[in-house]
Amino acid sequence: MVWLTGLSGAGKSTIADALGPTLRARGLAVEVLDGDVVRTHLSKGLGFSREDRDLNVLRIAFVAHLLSRNGVTVVVSAISPYRAAREEARRRIGAFVEVAVAPPLEACIARDPKGLYAKALAGEIPAFTGVSDPYEPPLAPEVHLDTTQIDVQTAVDRIVLALEERGHLGAP
Ligand code: ADX
Repeated sequence: MVWLTGLSGAGKSTIADALGPTLRARGLAVEVLDGDVVRTHLSKGLGFSREDRDLNVLRIAFVAHLLSRNGVTVVVSAISPYRAAREEARRRIGAFVEVAVAPPLEACIARDPKGLYAKALAGEIPAFTGVSDPYEPPLAPEVHLDTTQIDVQTAVDRIVLALEERGHLGAP
């Protein structure tokens, strides 16, 4: 499975949406679990305290585990800001390729695709990751992507290579 972690606006969902079809084209069954989507269903009602974020991440990990053990390749896209919760997800899921989607914070603020940074910087959204709430970057991710330096296709290629190197993909 592939776990994309990074700030809001880092490019996680864009990469996940491009990675899914690429993996399907190689014959894999793929499910994308996106934090924004999960929060409208499985995690509806959860907020952004550490407790709620960790609960969200562990719910995603639970579903990812169920799918993975049935042969589905899972792509998770969630800020998942706390290292300990990501490590717990790794422990529960097993085969785990952690991808740090890590442009500089300034680039996320400049892009601001949902207009949330502007609101957070104006104090209208409390506890916003990177502005007024912590983000703990992975210390040893399997893949590290600076999305200001590479395009989406290159990001996808790097992840596919990491999966291949670990024997998670059959012959192309
Ligand atoms: S996580 O921290 O629990 O992993 P998740 O990836 O599911 O976060 O959801 C993040 C999304 O929620 C962001 O992309 C953004 O659209 C929205 N959001 C709303 N409030 C916040 C906040 N305070 N901090 C971060 N994201 C927020």
